[in-house]
Order: sequence, then C-alpha cells, then structure tokens
Amino acid sequence: MSAFASTLNHSVIPLGMLPESVRAVCCRLDSLTCEPDDMLSPREREQWTQMRAVEKRRQEWLLGRCAAKSAVRMLAEKLLLKEIEIIPDAYGCPRVAGGPVISIAHSQGVAVALAAIGGRSERPTQAKGLPHNLLVGVDLESLHHRREDFESVAFHSDERSLLDTLLPDLRQEWALRMWCAKEAVGKALGRGLSAGLLAFRIHHLNPATGAIEVELHDGALQHFPHLRGQLLSVNTARASEFVFSAIIYQQGAVRMRPSRQEILDYLLHKMGELTQDWDYPDPVRPESLLFTELGFESLDAVVLCTAIQEHYQTPMPFAELLAEIGQQQRDLSIDELTGFVHTHLNGSSGAESATGRLQ
Ligand SMILES: CC(C)(COP(=O)(O)OP(=O)(O)OC[C@H]1O[C@@H](n2cnc3c(N)ncnc32)[C@H](O)[C@@H]1OP(=O)(O)O)[C@@H](O)C(=O)NCCC(=O)NCCS
Repeated sequence: MSAFASTLNHSVIPLGMLPESVRAVCCRLDSLTCEPDDMLSPREREQWTQMRAVEKRRQEWLLGRCAAKSAVRMLAEKLLLKEIEIIPDAYGCPRVAGGPVISIAHSQGVAVALAAIGGRSERPTQAKGLPHNLLVGVDLESLHHRREDFESVAFHSDERSLLDTLLPDLRQEWALRMWCAKEAVGKALGRGLSAGLLAFRIHHLNPATGAIEVELHDGALQHFPHLRGQLLSVNTARASEFVFSAIIYQQGAVRMRPSRQEILDYLLHKMGELTQDWDYPDPVRPESLLFTELGFESLDAVVLCTAIQEHYQTPMPFAELLAEIGQQQRDLSIDELTGFVHTHLNGSSGAESATGRLQ
C-alpha cells in the first residue's frame, strides 16, 4: 500500500449503472503525502518543472495527477504510479496512452479523478468527432468557497426555473451541482466549456437520486452534432462542504428519449413476457388493466416497475404512483403506465407530485 493511501477515498460518488463491461473507479485525494519523484514519469516531471503557475495551482496539479494515477492503478493493478503517464491532448484533456480514459478536477486543496476502462472498444473514432468510445468527466466545487450570485451568467432561465422548484435551503447546493454537471460533460467531450456555458443545458434534475440530465445546444452541437436530442446523465453527490459530479458515457449507449409508441411497444412486449405462464386468454392490449384484468398482485407490479427502471436506466416515482392507485382504489391500464413513463423520461421537474406527472 502506498504512502498516500490513507488520504485516498474511493467512494466519492455513486457512479450509477455502468454500461455493460465498463469498469470505473473514482478517487478523491485531500492531501499529498508522496514526493513528485515517486509518482511522475520523466516527461511529467519536466512538465511539472516547467509549469509557471502559483504554488496552489502546482500543488493541485500534483494532487490531481496522484488521484488519477491511483484510479488508473486500481483498474490496471500491476502498475507503479510513475509508470502511468498522463499527458494532456491539444485541448488540455488528460490522456493515458493505451490505458483507461480519465478525468481530473481540483478545488480548494482537494482533487478528484475518474478512470474507466472497457466498453465496446477504445480505439479512436475520429470520424464522429470524439476521440474515444468511452468518455468520462468529473468535477467538484466547494460550498464554502463563497461566490457572488453566478446563476444569471451560468444558467439559462429554464435552468433557473428548475432551481425555483427546490426548497430554498437546497438552492445553493443544487446550483453548484448543476454547474459541476456542466463541467463534467464538457470534460467528457474533451473541450471543456469552450462552447459556452449555455450550450450545456440542464434538462432535468432529480433531488432523490442526485442525477442531472444535460442536453447539448448551440456551439456544443457544432462539435458533436450526433448528440442532438440525447440526454447525458450526470451523477452528483454532496460530501460535507463539497459537491461532486461524474459522467461515464459510452457512445451508442446513451439513452435516447423514446417516443410514447416505443414505450408502449416495450411495455406490451414486457407484459407478454411476464404473463406468458399465466392463463390469461386474450392478448395484452393498451387498455388492459393490470390488477383486475391481468390479475396482477402488488409484488408483480413492483417487479414490472423495477424492470421498467432498469430498462430505461432511470429512477421514476413508481412508489408514489402505486400508493396513489391504492388510495384511490382504482386500476392502472398499460396505456396510462405508458404515459407515466413517457412523462418521466422526458424530464418533468423532480419536485412535482406523481399525479402531476400523469398525462
Ligand atoms: C476544462 C475546464 C472545464 C476546467 O475547469 P476548471 O474549473 O478550470 O478546473 P477543474 O479543476 O474543474 O479541472 C481542471 C482539469 O480539467 C482537465 N481539463 C482541462 N482541459 C480539459 C479538456 N479540454 N477536456 C477535459 N478535461 C480537461 C485537466 O485535467 C485539468 O487539470 P490539470 O490541468 O491539473 O490536469 C475549463 O477550464 C474549461 O472549460 N476550459 C475551456 C476554456 C474555456 O472556455 N474556459 C472558460 C469557461 S468559463
């Protein structure tokens, strides 16, 4: 175990459901207890020596390198830290030659790094404008680092409306989470926020899970036109005075917003699967009622709702929906369930009631 292990925290942020075959590690490092010579390659050592910056910046650069190398080493176990060489590309995005994809952030003497490996392929796909199939981005900000109000510059009015739905006590934290989500996406795409702050638009936030969905607009789409209409899901978390964000994005694995018809087709197919051993005589239709017609019991409904969440990789307030149905002593048709899922996948506010979400 290395000298810095005592300050290394590996459970910084829940990384959510990873794309199939992807492994990822996120490391937080609060202080550096090993010497630059013990962890830098000769090229990195030269970069460090030539860096003209204030001491705080130089120390955070080291801290970020150390956090990133630790994360990489956990994925590629045998390596010494100095054998892992991190070189920035032309846009400043840190790269490990032939190794995992990484992202680094530092603030107020704390660094966080995310490394991921696996997925379909890590060979370059320059034709699509992105250098890797697997992309990662991470960020952190301190809540104690006081700033004047930054919302009017950082956020579009639609984004500020999302903040308006939260309790006032949560506003500062969620404004920072939203900021961190934008930075994480900018880093994952390899250009930072150079397309402009409003080109990374917060589409939806979920206070229950910490998930924030970001949609690209304007300048960001010029670089990445194939991401039009896709919601990029960023995980965020708070630990004492810091908020963190992380995104792991695999090209082709990002969730598209499905149409209502696609959701209905999926639900009918799923219902067909679930009821195939039952003695239900007729085909399942959109109007079919779960409990009275199809003979669902409570647990069957919970199994179905869990399958829907897993399929769309999105938590939805099914518990509230089921409770509401119980209270009103009514049934639920597949068509109504379709409307509920469609509403939530298309990003209604996390502060609305389950009833408000039903169309
Ligand atoms: C990249 C960027 C998001 C970093 O944000 P920050 O708050 O300054 O700094 P953070 O601590 O969050 O992250 C710094 C790390 O981001 C990484 N980074 C820098 N450029 C990057 C890029 N193009 N893509 C991905 N990661 C990048 C680096 O690893 C850097 O740490 P290091 O230099 O010590 O290795 C930001 O500087 C940026 O958007 N730059 C583009 C230029 C620009 O338009 N800036 C104005 C935006 S307001």
